[in-house]
Amino acid sequence: MNVLIIGSGGREHSLSWAIAKSPLLSKLYCAPGNGGMSQIAECVALDVDNHQAVIEFARTNAIGFVIIGPEAPLVNGLADALKDSGIKAFGPSAKAAQLEGSKGFTKDLCSAHNIPTAAYGRFTEAGAAKTFLRDQKIPIVIKADGLAAGKGVIIAENLQQAEMAIDDILSGQFGAAGSELIIEEFLFGEEASFFALVDGDHAVVMATAQDHKRVGDGDVGLNTGGMGAYSPAPVMVRELCDQTMEKIINPTVRALKEAGTPFHGVLYAGLMITDEGPKLIEYNVRFGDPECQVLMMRLTSDLLPALLATADGNLPKIDLEWSNEAALCVVMAAKGYPGPYEKGSPIKNLDQSAEDPKVTIFHAGTEKKDGVLVANGGRVLNVTAKGASVKEAQLRAYEAVDKIDWPQGFCRRDIGWRAVVRERS
Ligand code: AMP
Ligand code: GLY
Repeated sequence: MNVLIIGSGGREHSLSWAIAKSPLLSKLYCAPGNGGMSQIAECVALDVDNHQAVIEFARTNAIGFVIIGPEAPLVNGLADALKDSGIKAFGPSAKAAQLEGSKGFTKDLCSAHNIPTAAYGRFTEAGAAKTFLRDQKIPIVIKADGLAAGKGVIIAENLQQAEMAIDDILSGQFGAAGSELIIEEFLFGEEASFFALVDGDHAVVMATAQDHKRVGDGDVGLNTGGMGAYSPAPVMVRELCDQTMEKIINPTVRALKEAGTPFHGVLYAGLMITDEGPKLIEYNVRFGDPECQVLMMRLTSDLLPALLATADGNLPKIDLEWSNEAALCVVMAAKGYPGPYEKGSPIKNLDQSAEDPKVTIFHAGTEKKDGVLVANGGRVLNVTAKGASVKEAQLRAYEAVDKIDWPQGFCRRDIGWRAVVRERS
């Protein structure tokens, strides 16, 4: 079977790496791909907003399956367009992708089905939002309703900050994503990411992970797309995973099916583990980045049949197997990220750095220019390692990081610290 993967990040490189191992695969294409994906797949320049162009490419190249990595094409209906043309795709319909595309949609769904989440209000008008605010506790969370590339969430420490956030969002700082906002109770606890494959009817747990969103060591500084991740998340003991399935994932899957918009794809629940148990912070309708990289390192069974079964409604036939080892990913970014950064600096010594069979370096923002690998994005490399413990995976990943010759890059030095502390105690 020929497969096309849509996307260009480390998430898509790790998906390509897993799919490339499948005996079911004939030829792998990536659009647009990156410098790492070009080593295992044919990278093609496709405008993913132009659904007709993707359909024509798929027809011309006998693509049997399209795997959509990022959220934006899903929310824009690429999976629907492919399906309508008879091309099988991995990823939810635009309607089901509203779970990520509209935070208000998800909050209303939680409220209608008793799914544990933070108390909230939805607003399109600043006056009403500020009146609601007066009866709320501080800190309080203000969120733009739509997709804002991870930037539309403000945690306000006082009333003035909260009012400013309301004005900023509704005055268009996040474009159309901010035509509506959510005001939400602040939840206390430890965060974890929970991944399940969903085939419309059935949900199958994949794995748990934790990521580090802040740019600086100790989880301080600006928010980023993610500076590192590890799996499994030690906080997610069996009982909490069972509760998450029973109280959060399964009711969501049932609700979407009943609404006539069944969810097919990977459901990524961002959880807060509170004193009252797991509560949903948000849903994403795609794999996390860099969480996907650690999941793919731990997956020992063939990914391709599992994703096909997800699209086909056949998940009960699939048995996913995972390594007992932990995996940890350190993101190397261009100096300046998440602010302005330079592109084009050469990266050397990657092959030698990944000589350890338990280390894989996924590419995020790289390209090959005149035969030389150069940085062309903010997050650039994902140095990923396995180990008997998170500590062992961490040591191995940093050993590889230290061999990479890229003076214009940086990384956090403490990825996995929470899990390492837990392992020690
Ligand atoms: P989101 O994009 O909704 O995942 O929010 C980004 C980050 O903001 C989350 O990973 C949390 O760290 C934080 N956050 C969002 N909502 C809440 C909440 N209700 N309580 C506490 N922290 C939150
Ligand atoms: N690592 C966070 C995300 O993918 O949304």
